[in-house]
Amino acid sequence: MDRPYIICHMVTSLDGKVTGDFLGKSAYSGLIGDYYRIHREYDADGFLCGRVTMEGSFPQPPVPSAVYDGSPIAREDYVAERAAFYAVAIDPRGKIWWDNRAIADQDEGYDGAHVIEVLTQSVSDAFLVHLQKKGVSYLFGGKTELDLALVAQKLKRLFGIERLLLEGGGIVNGSFLQEELVDEISLVVVPEAECSENAVSLFKTGKYQTSNMHVASFRLKEARRLNDDGLWLTYQK
Ligand SMILES: NC(=O)c1ccc[n+]([C@@H]2O[C@H](COP(=O)([O-])OP(=O)(O)OC[C@H]3O[C@@H](n4cnc5c(N)ncnc54)[C@H](OP(=O)(O)O)[C@@H]3O)[C@@H](O)[C@H]2O)c1
Repeated sequence: MDRPYIICHMVTSLDGKVTGDFLGKSAYSGLIGDYYRIHREYDADGFLCGRVTMEGSFPQPPVPSAVYDGSPIAREDYVAERAAFYAVAIDPRGKIWWDNRAIADQDEGYDGAHVIEVLTQSVSDAFLVHLQKKGVSYLFGGKTELDLALVAQKLKRLFGIERLLLEGGGIVNGSFLQEELVDEISLVVVPEAECSENAVSLFKTGKYQTSNMHVASFRLKEARRLNDDGLWLTYQK
């Protein structure tokens, strides 16, 4: 395969929502712990999230008032380092001004992951200079829109990523699904329905929906009962 094997690993409510009050309830903290344990046990080479999830999970300092008046920066992929584990951010407009080359997190499954920004060529020179100064890697996935198949190929070719966890939110999951870039689904299901209309679904494409939406069906690989009436479901293409 010319791209990583991609596993969509998420916590969902009974009705397939990935946001909502259920995620913060103490009754389900054990299941959230199961989610992080399974993340570590997959022993992947990195995880990938959409811009909204990355900003929420790993908040960065306020955007610096960056002025760049040097020569134009070539739109060439930038490999700052080859690491053991990567945090891949789908950030097409260059909104996450990372302050560090690696993730700092209490969970050892995330801490130290080297950041790769996935960009379009429309980002500013100042943003690229900032990433280079911070030692953050980046790659280009298109001029103004992302070609996710190309992005996946580059993650393998430039960084050696063989196994990648796709960890939300719904928009980035839906975008990968519609391009047939999801090989396996791993769901930690919390035994509560999340009825809010505003809750995000496991897969949605929003403005990124394309006309060639494929039927996405999977085979059940395993269904395991977890404590606190939870389930771990895995499906494969
Ligand atoms: N339950 C769980 O396991 C779990 C896991 C992860 C996240 N979450 C939750 O999910 C929520 C966020 O989900 P979300 O669906 O709103 O956002 P998201 O998928 O995290 O991020 C969406 C953004 O990523 C960029 N993006 C994604 N796909 C793209 C594509 N194909 N082409 C170009 N850009 C693309 C765009 O950034 P721009 O807007 O900058 O263009 C888009 O607006 C958060 O509340 C988070 O807590 C839950």
